[in-house]
Amino acid sequence: MDLEVVKDIALGAGEILVQKLHSGVSVEAKGSIDLVTDADKASEAYVVEALGKRFPRHGILAEEGGRTEGSSDYLWVIDPLDGTTNFAHGFPYFCVSIALVKGEEMVLGVVYDPVRRECFVAEKGSGAFLNGRRITVSRASTLHSSLLATGFPYEIATTERNNLEPFGRVNKASQGVRSLGAAALDLCQVAAGRLDAFWELVLQPWDLAAGGLMVLEAGGTVTGCAGEKFSPLGHDVCASNGLVHAELLQLIKG
Ligand code: IPD
Ligand code: CA
Ligand code: CA
Repeated sequence: MDLEVVKDIALGAGEILVQKLHSGVSVEAKGSIDLVTDADKASEAYVVEALGKRFPRHGILAEEGGRTEGSSDYLWVIDPLDGTTNFAHGFPYFCVSIALVKGEEMVLGVVYDPVRRECFVAEKGSGAFLNGRRITVSRASTLHSSLLATGFPYEIATTERNNLEPFGRVNKASQGVRSLGAAALDLCQVAAGRLDAFWELVLQPWDLAAGGLMVLEAGGTVTGCAGEKFSPLGHDVCASNGLVHAELLQLIKG
């Protein structure tokens, strides 16, 4: 069964991250505030090798190694460590994210938080689960009664799409907007009903593919930030319990 295999791979990668956290992390800068650690690389090498052995015909899109075409339509989209900045500071909020897509169609997603030992899984049409228990989105019906999360791009100092104005507007209209630093895991918190919504403007497919499917399978709504159809290979996401979606999109737009 594919999902069990992928779950085991995510758990193995999570163990690598936790061991590295305890044994000491070596950090390099990819950009001015965009970091990479030896843990990102070790986790990715493990996931790519394990998936490659089990699914040799499938393509791979992984954050550190880029894209390798396969001989089938299936593509694994991998973030070996989502939340690298948190990890580098020892702030315990990060995850491994693995999704399988076929074109624009999301097939399955696994997100593993090794600190809390929480494994989120979803298969298209079969629901979303946290450690084997079905999860569903929250029932908050207004932003006024909602807790949300968002994130900011590494290029925050230089890009106009820095999300600061939408952040201010939504913060004033809600019970709070957190910036937790691991988009894939934030999406899972929406799926689990712990957050009512999450949005972010400048992301990569490995940040949003698995978590996007998780929210949809938990009964939520997922679009782009302008309300367009969500793409797991896209660059922005607005995910909610569905009830607050229109209100949130309106405030993001301003
Ligand atoms: C980052 C995290 C963060 C988000 C950034 C992402 P990384 O991924 O998901 O929450 O705000 O935009 O790049 O670099 O830790 O894998
Ligand atoms: Ca990421
Ligand atoms: Ca990453």
